Amino acid sequence: MLDEKVRELLNTQINKEFYSAYLYLDFSNYYADQGLNGFANWYKVQAQEERDHAVLFMQYLQNNGCKVTLDGIDKPDNEFTSFSEPLHAGYEHEQYVTGLIHTIYAMASEQKDFRTMQFLDWFVKEQGEEESNAEGLIKKFDLFGADPRALYILDNELAARVYSAPSLVL
Ligand code: FEO
Repeated sequence: MLDEKVRELLNTQINKEFYSAYLYLDFSNYYADQGLNGFANWYKVQAQEERDHAVLFMQYLQNNGCKVTLDGIDKPDNEFTSFSEPLHAGYEHEQYVTGLIHTIYAMASEQKDFRTMQFLDWFVKEQGEEESNAEGLIKKFDLFGADPRALYILDNELAARVYSAPSLVL
């Protein structure tokens, strides 16, 4: 059995990941409303990845004989006034999630829970990629977002993102 504090943090992370999916669907809906269907697609795919993350945390708990408790998912409360705002909100959110993963890792380390540390290694790396992707979107938008023709091309580029299942299998 897992240490109770570690188990609780892992269970809470399920909700955080589902919230991330909900948040990114909200971003996706905003861009779809604005006619930027490529940006909408990018965040819809991101939401699928977040759902995968939630299920991985659930599966890990179940593989270790722990009961999973699902909590309510908060309503995303963003009112965007510019195309760039969701990009910045997304980057900040990923930094926040990285902090959550590190907190669980630190607790697992304190408890000498090497199994959970190994499980979380994938998420530590994944967060590095997610922050980098989010920051990359901001940089591209800063470079090209003000020019309608360049924005059109960027939107087409983001429309090409396709979902792929996580590389971590439990
Ligand atoms: Fe599941 Fe984007 O962190």
